[in-house]
Amino acid sequence: MIKKITDKDKEDWEKFLKNKEKISNKDLVIKNNIRHEKIKKIDLHGYTIEEANKAIEQFIEKCFDESVTKVIVITGKGLRSKSIENPYLSKDLSILKYSVPEFIETNRTLIKMIIEITDAKIEDGGGGAFYVYLKKKKMSIEKKQSLFNLFPLALFRDKIEITESERKILINEILLQEKNSKNTIDKGVKPAWTGDTQGYEFLFKNKKFEKLFSLISASIKKYTNIIGLNNDKFNFYYQRSWATISRNNENIYAHKHHQSHITFAYYLKKSKEDGNINFHNESLQNEIAPQIFNARSVEGFFKTNLLNAQVATFAPEVDEILIFPSKTMHSTSSNKTSEERISIAADVTLVAKDSTNSENLLPPIDQWDKF
Ligand SMILES: [Fe+2]
Repeated sequence: MIKKITDKDKEDWEKFLKNKEKISNKDLVIKNNIRHEKIKKIDLHGYTIEEANKAIEQFIEKCFDESVTKVIVITGKGLRSKSIENPYLSKDLSILKYSVPEFIETNRTLIKMIIEITDAKIEDGGGGAFYVYLKKKKMSIEKKQSLFNLFPLALFRDKIEITESERKILINEILLQEKNSKNTIDKGVKPAWTGDTQGYEFLFKNKKFEKLFSLISASIKKYTNIIGLNNDKFNFYYQRSWATISRNNENIYAHKHHQSHITFAYYLKKSKEDGNINFHNESLQNEIAPQIFNARSVEGFFKTNLLNAQVATFAPEVDEILIFPSKTMHSTSSNKTSEERISIAADVTLVAKDSTNSENLLPPIDQWDKF
């Protein structure tokens, strides 16, 4: 059955043909990427011409950067414009309704951002407003090519503020521990002195270190917050903490802290020359072929950067703390000076306050049963 065309249909069709806004060509839309309409409005009521020009220039540039598609500019009809009193301007020019579009069209920078200027619909201000349709900002090549560094290791650095006199007391205490070493473990050739193997593995119980550990605790909670943990759900425990002293080529070999969750290194005494801490990349996410980034076997085949490095060296300063997952392989480079480098490390463990819904988190320690 053929449907009869009504007068209403004819009217709609004619309206459609007259309509300025053309129906989108499907292929074109796909080619140009669909632009979702993003509208912003600026009201220039009561501005002088100069003020209005300045405001519209800044506004259009900002909108262009923000990928706005249409700007509604409200000028009013000009009768209340302050500049009407300016004898050096003609009445016509004083009307923002005319002067602002003219300013836009003659502004070399703005005109490059614009598709067209049209009158506004009644609901947007009619004669006292107009539309500026903006072009799509062409992205630079750099912006078109995006690199997403997924799953980065978070190494948190913070500054711990203690006074020089407090520092001296702590340094002296650690040097005294070194002097009274019990040498519980033989660590071989040129290892740094580590308090945990010398009978000083609970530094946080030493009253002299109370303030330091309370500042460090706050830092650790900043770190866990940054990596997305809800601190309120956990109890935090220092299970072990000790000092490390190195001098005369001593260092710490690559290792992990298997028994804890979070580890830190705080630098109580450090100079620029006494060596750094190294973090080892075990996952080698970008190693597209075995050993392809191994500098020894394929020298000249690649440039080292953080996307292919197997080791990243970090140069901390006095009073800085570095906090990282205990499972991160790390080491220190040899201290080539004769002055001691002193750092403090600890093993931190997180225990769920309520482990009801967790299979993997440690349940509250008071629920444990010793046998
Ligand atoms: Fe360590």
